[in-house]
Amino acid sequence: MKRIGVYTSGGDAPGMNACVRAVVRNGLYNGCEVIGIQHGYEGMIEGNFVDLSARSVSNIIQRGGTILRTARSEQFRTPEGRARAAAQLEKAGIEGLVAIGGDGTFQGVVRLIEEHGVAAIGVPGTIDNDLFGTDFTIGYDTAVNTAMEAIDKIRDTAASHDRLFYVEVMGRDAGFIALDVGISSGAEYVAIPETRTNVEALREYLENYKKVKSSAIIIVAEGEEEGGAFSLAEKIKDTAGYDYRVCVLGHIQRGGSPSARDRILASRMGLAAVDALLEGQTNVMVGDIHGKIAYTPLLETWSQRKALDKDLWRLARILST
Ligand code: F6P
Repeated sequence: MKRIGVYTSGGDAPGMNACVRAVVRNGLYNGCEVIGIQHGYEGMIEGNFVDLSARSVSNIIQRGGTILRTARSEQFRTPEGRARAAAQLEKAGIEGLVAIGGDGTFQGVVRLIEEHGVAAIGVPGTIDNDLFGTDFTIGYDTAVNTAMEAIDKIRDTAASHDRLFYVEVMGRDAGFIALDVGISSGAEYVAIPETRTNVEALREYLENYKKVKSSAIIIVAEGEEEGGAFSLAEKIKDTAGYDYRVCVLGHIQRGGSPSARDRILASRMGLAAVDALLEGQTNVMVGDIHGKIAYTPLLETWSQRKALDKDLWRLARILST
């Protein structure tokens, strides 16, 4: 294999640049040319390609976002769009792909592999940490730290005003961010999609907390089944006795300079993705399982649900009392 294409797709995540850098430098180290595909699948369809040198990825390991840009492509969902993308890859002589993104990115690349015989390796780049086949995804650690730091600040104002705050965090339909943020910020309650939120029981908790705690923080995962922070707050409203506010942290969680952990994870995974392509592997995702690089069939990464750590859930419940 002599020409490798690399792209980022779907929601950006801190550490994607560190991963691109590792792909480029390991590709060049192994005598390959590395082509950057800009704007994800949109750029693949349009032939928006750029040659990447070792120097073109200098000074990016510390930068959030993605220098290759990203997009959520409707065109690529169609067989015609994918055929155009495959033709562009062939024209540019790209023989293998490194796809950095989440489950939408992987579903797209599996179609490309099956319909057009392209070789591709997935790298998990999403703040949600919701992919089966890896303990951690690129961007997750930074996002948790960003949210935790924001909540530390919210706690100051909550304590000053004797208020209850409902803080909504991202995660799509998974509660990984919420649970880790809840534990690390000492939240009084964490509402996640993996466990049913009993509104009545929560109201009771809060009434009891009110007797001993003048302020409180509830972390609400955006995919939680009661409909998010505003909706949950509305349901609890008058009975808990707290004056309350709602704060949706939103896209701040996707930005910022990646943590050391994310930079190292991204570098290891980028390197491993190129190694895998050169070994002749395809249709798998690079993961980190118990600190070691592991490969999982791409299909399993979204068709199997990654389990939340029950011990962490128990920890959050016990320490919030
Ligand atoms: O998958 C990452 C993520 O940030 C999710 O947590 C969130 O639900 C979604 O992307 C938001 O997507 P967009 O930026 O397209 O609104």
